[in-house]
Amino acid sequence: MPVEAATALSGKDLVGIAPLTPGEIQLILDTAEELLEIARRPIKKVPTLRGRTVVNLFMEPSTRTRFSFEVAEKRLSADTLNFSASGTSVSKGETLVDTARNLMAMAPDFIVMRHPNSGAPHRLAKMVSASIINAGDGINEHPTQALLDAFTMRRHRGRLEGLTVVIAGDIRHSRVARSNAFLLNKMGASVRFAAPASLMPVRAEELGVEVHHRLEPALEGADVVMMLRIQRERQGNKNFPSLREYFDFFGLTPGRLDLASPDALVMHPGPMNRGVEIDSAVADGPRSVILDQVTNGVAIRMAILYLLSGGEREPSAAS
Ligand code: CP
Repeated sequence: MPVEAATALSGKDLVGIAPLTPGEIQLILDTAEELLEIARRPIKKVPTLRGRTVVNLFMEPSTRTRFSFEVAEKRLSADTLNFSASGTSVSKGETLVDTARNLMAMAPDFIVMRHPNSGAPHRLAKMVSASIINAGDGINEHPTQALLDAFTMRRHRGRLEGLTVVIAGDIRHSRVARSNAFLLNKMGASVRFAAPASLMPVRAEELGVEVHHRLEPALEGADVVMMLRIQRERQGNKNFPSLREYFDFFGLTPGRLDLASPDALVMHPGPMNRGVEIDSAVADGPRSVILDQVTNGVAIRMAILYLLSGGEREPSAAS
């Protein structure tokens, strides 16, 4: 499937994978490929965003995404401001709109935003002139995670088109699963969702995926196996009898991984719950690329900041 090349991103924001064209996705991946080299230099810094200000507005906990953005911003020489719900006036009842207006009075160029409400970055993007980058909104999208996941698959397999990717676990509450389904479909990969019925979104098939309620058939011949944690913070009631029973039926063990392709990649966006969705022997095993995902996340976030700042790139030879 030939991808129509893009040399720049068309919008001022990155609020989701859904609005991106395959050409824009390829552009971000190709730009990240070039920027990855900066991490290997003795001095890991370039002046690209000197004089630009980035606000990191995290209204939910984060380890990987938050630090990854901060590293990316510093490597591009941006000035960074870090806001979290607990340390700011949000904890005193200030609304998102008022917080945004006050932040804009400080003239930031970018706002990187994680928020518990689906659609919050989209609303903010319409209100402010700064570029909004969605770092995860409710159960809607986590676009930079899907991009770093695709980047990791492409670096290990050389392509996305034609890959069979299993996404297994708590898909119903997962913004990572939705963004990955959008991206992988656009880039010609096949996606299989595997989860108990209580953890599968309603009408999951409408996302263009194959739906499985048992892990074993989903794993047959897969090129990539992406495990997701149970998002207990987004569930009022228990959706399965016990964590032990969940592991017995849906945990990725070495025996179950043998059903996948012999060189299948094992991925996880983190945080992992060892012994719940994944066995430590698999998480730390030879097919795991979980820490590569973290390394690659910095290059992807650098690429997004660079491209949204107006950066361009020559069309790739592969286009
Ligand atoms: N993958 C991911 O979003 O991890 P964090 O919640 O630690 O940012």
